Amino acid sequence: MTQKTTQKLVVANWKMHGNLKQNSALLTDFVENLSALKHTQMVVCAPYPYLAQLQSMLQHTNIAWGAQNVAKNEVGAFTGEVSAAMLTDFGCKYVIIGHSERATAYCESDENIATKFVQAKRHGLTPILCVGETLIEREAGVMEMVVSKQLDTIINTHGAAVFADAVISYEPIWAIGTGLAATPEQAKNMHLFIRNKISNLNIEATNRLKILYGGSVNPQNAVQLFVVPNIDGGLIGKCSLNAQEFEAICHAAETSVT
Ligand code: PGA
Repeated sequence: MTQKTTQKLVVANWKMHGNLKQNSALLTDFVENLSALKHTQMVVCAPYPYLAQLQSMLQHTNIAWGAQNVAKNEVGAFTGEVSAAMLTDFGCKYVIIGHSERATAYCESDENIATKFVQAKRHGLTPILCVGETLIEREAGVMEMVVSKQLDTIINTHGAAVFADAVISYEPIWAIGTGLAATPEQAKNMHLFIRNKISNLNIEATNRLKILYGGSVNPQNAVQLFVVPNIDGGLIGKCSLNAQEFEAICHAAETSVT
């Protein structure tokens, strides 16, 4: 099954970078140079303290914003956590869930990730669920099994219907921040695998699901990746901190659908 995309989605993942001054310069540039794009939804995911800045600078533009994590609980004595309701208070529409940098450094289990995913949906946020295999897993040829298992934790507890209006980002761990992106062929196979897995369970959900590719996307490889069937856009780390590079990636997305 191949999903025909009418709109691409390009998400900036700023990770733990930025300050008020740098953010302001970047956002001003994005707003100026991306306002003409009609077929690409852009999103900026910044650290929590800057959500108010995103809200004030991006409201009334064609760029949405979001966070990079969310608490699995609704409210309560959870020091240091930030709830989904708090994110919506600052106008967030998106939230990244289960990024491998968090999953490994903060021991996030698949169960935690599944709970965060539905918690985000419950509050009207679009979860961007990160999945992907390590280099050892790819070399062993078990990458589909690994990604399948990551999706199964959500499917088994909440059903495949929760993927409607959600985003899955395929992020091979070996490609993140390494400069070594997956080839269009590697990405094509995995994206098709994910699309088929969800469509076999729930055709309605798959029609409303976007599947992004993330991992060393740059302006050059974006042109090749975004025309691959079932690649609905990208999750961009390093290149989202550079206005020219991020904007070129967004323009590549726009060109791929027009
Ligand atoms: P990168 O990060 O573009 O710097 O590889 C991607 C990601 O972590 O989402």
